This record gives sequence, C-alpha cells and structure tokens, in this order.
Amino acid sequence: MIKNNVSLKSFNTFGIEVVAKDYLEINNIEDVFSLESIIPKYDKFMILGGGSNVLFLNDFDGLIIHNKLSGINIIEENEDFAIICASSGEIWHQLVLFCLDKNLAGLENLSLIPGTVGAAPMQNIGAYGVETKDTFYKLEAYNFQTAKIDSFHTEDCKFGYRESVFKNELQNKYFITKVCFKLSKTHNLNTSYGAINDELQKNNITNPTLKDVSNAVIAIRQSKLPNPAELGNAGSFFKNPEINVELFNELKSEYPDIPGYQVQNPNNIKVPAGWLIEKCGLKGKVFGNTGSHKNQALVIVNYGNATGSEIYEHALRVQELVSQKFKINLQTEVNIIK
Ligand code: EPU
Repeated sequence: MIKNNVSLKSFNTFGIEVVAKDYLEINNIEDVFSLESIIPKYDKFMILGGGSNVLFLNDFDGLIIHNKLSGINIIEENEDFAIICASSGEIWHQLVLFCLDKNLAGLENLSLIPGTVGAAPMQNIGAYGVETKDTFYKLEAYNFQTAKIDSFHTEDCKFGYRESVFKNELQNKYFITKVCFKLSKTHNLNTSYGAINDELQKNNITNPTLKDVSNAVIAIRQSKLPNPAELGNAGSFFKNPEINVELFNELKSEYPDIPGYQVQNPNNIKVPAGWLIEKCGLKGKVFGNTGSHKNQALVIVNYGNATGSEIYEHALRVQELVSQKFKINLQTEVNIIK
C-alpha cells in the first residue's frame, strides 16, 4: 500500500528530516511483481535499503520503494563450501552473523558494515582487505522493463572499487531481490590489513578463529567509525582517490608520511582521502551542525539537526580544500539525492 508524506528521518543513517511524497514497502516477492503496474505512474522513484549510503538534499518528490525482503538460506552445501542466499532487504551484519554461526568463512572482515544485503553488490562494499566480489556467487534482480527476474553472475556485475553495473548503466533498471555468496568451510583468514593483526595481538590471539577476526574488525570499526544510531553519518563520504605516480612522488617529497597503496594500474597509487582531509586541518572540526569526524576524517557527521544541504556544503568545502592543497579531486562515495 502506498503511503503519502512519509518522513525518511529514521530511514537514512544521516538522520536527515526529509519527506517522501509517496512511499511503498516491499515485504515479499508479490510486492516486487506489483511494481509492474506502479512504476509507470512515476517519473521519479528510488529504491531504499538501509539508507546508509545516501544523503537527501530535499524532500523526495516521487516514490520511495523501501526494501524489506527478508530470509537467509543455505541452498547448496558440500564438505568444502556452502552457498548462502539472502534476501536483499536483510541487514548485512545479520548475514555475517549467520555465516559465523555456521562457521563459514569469507564475510568476517565485512562485519558490522551498516546497510542491507542488496547494497553489497550494488557498490561492492569492502573493508579490511575484502570486498563483496571476493565471495559473490550470483544475484537475482527484478527487471523493471520486462517485469521478470534475471540472474547476474560475477562477470555481469562489473565490480570495481565501490562500483558495479547497478550504480552505472543499470541504475534504476533493476530491483535486486536476492544475493548469494559462496563461502568456504576451510578458513583462509585475511588478517593482512595491519589494524586486524594489531587488534588480535593486543588480545594475545595467535591462532584466530573466524569469530576472533570478526570481533577484531568490530573493535576497530567501533573505535574509529561513529555509530549512526548515536551520531548521524554514512561511513566514508568520499572514495580514496587514485593519483598518478608523478603527483604521488611530488607529494611524498613535501609530505614524507603520505600513505600510498599499489593498485592494478602500475601508473597509479591510491591515497587515503582521510589522510588528505586530516592534513587540511578538518579532522574533528565542527561547522554548525556538521563537520568531519574526530577519529576518521573521511566520515562527515550530523551533530543534531543538520539539513542535507548543510552536510553537502561541508562536503564541497572538503573537496575544495583538498583540491587547493593537493591538486586532487575527491569523488563522493555517498549517493547524493538532489
Ligand atoms: N587516515 C588518516 N586520517 C584519518 C583517516 C585515515 O591519516 O582521519 C589514514 C590512516 O592512518 C591510514 C589510512 O588513512 O593510514 C587508511 O585509513 P583506514 O584504515 O581507516 O581506512 P580508509 O582508507 O580511510 C577505507 C574504506 C572504509 C573501510 C576502511 C577499512 C573507502 C572510501 N573507505 O577507509 O570503508 O572501513 O578502508 O578497510 O574505501 C565505507 O566505505 O563507508 C567505509 C567505512
């Protein structure tokens, strides 16, 4: 049933008070198929999952389709692996917990990432050296044009750094209904991301289990990233930029402590946007109701009653200062809804 004038404040982790003109909850597959007759009535619609990667600048003058599809199942299993399929409206961390409970490896580094399962392939969510694409098996999605469900395998999704086909050429063409992961019963733990090892060592863990790695990731996240339930935010606001080696070397001679990571393209180096923003003096700096977070400058926070525009203005300020100081243009990771 379509509702009118619904507040989206509790449906976006920035906690921005905006109103959707029309609002529809999708609770089961019949609701998904009912979209066939509903979508043609709208010039503007948007699928909302956990609302953890969006910034609304204004009231939404169209239809918000809120994904509440739920259910997690093992669809195939042998002695080496299991294929787990989760409905796209499930909370991501619930899926991680499900896998930990079954002792299945692959998602533990992605513990506590806010948002829903549907967002995972959409933007190839990643953390601590692991991305969705590493264990992705397939997904199912409702095609708005044909009103049928299509399957997508890894190569169809065109995964990149916080990118997929669903954020690009297929944007608003599909409603992802189900996502499946192939998870291993042998545990090849990925603890190479420095902070994980430090955290394990701190707790005297030399032979970590999946749960130990997950707990380490949770501890690191909680120490750096503000909890959206307490302080509105959408995680990293910007992507970490790739710059060419010449610019990196130029910056390195001026700032010897600049971190840089190798990427596929040998002419490029990825630098942490959080470091650049901190060097601009913005870390922990408050501007009215918003600012860059004190523990992780890549996160923009809502200190209370910020409007979307106020947060966006701060994002522009960050981009401007970083560009002036480093000649680097930061791209937003968060989806800005104008
Ligand atoms: N750094 C600073 N100052 C800061 C923040 C970071 O100097 O304020 C430096 C750190 O010292 C470190 C480097 O930047 O040398 C990297 O920091 P961190 O490990 O915190 O990771 P990040 O590159 O800032 C990325 C992801 C996060 C993910 C972490 C861990 C992006 C845009 N962000 O952040 O993802 O949790 O790595 O894997 O790639 C998200 O996407 O919302 C998100 C939180």
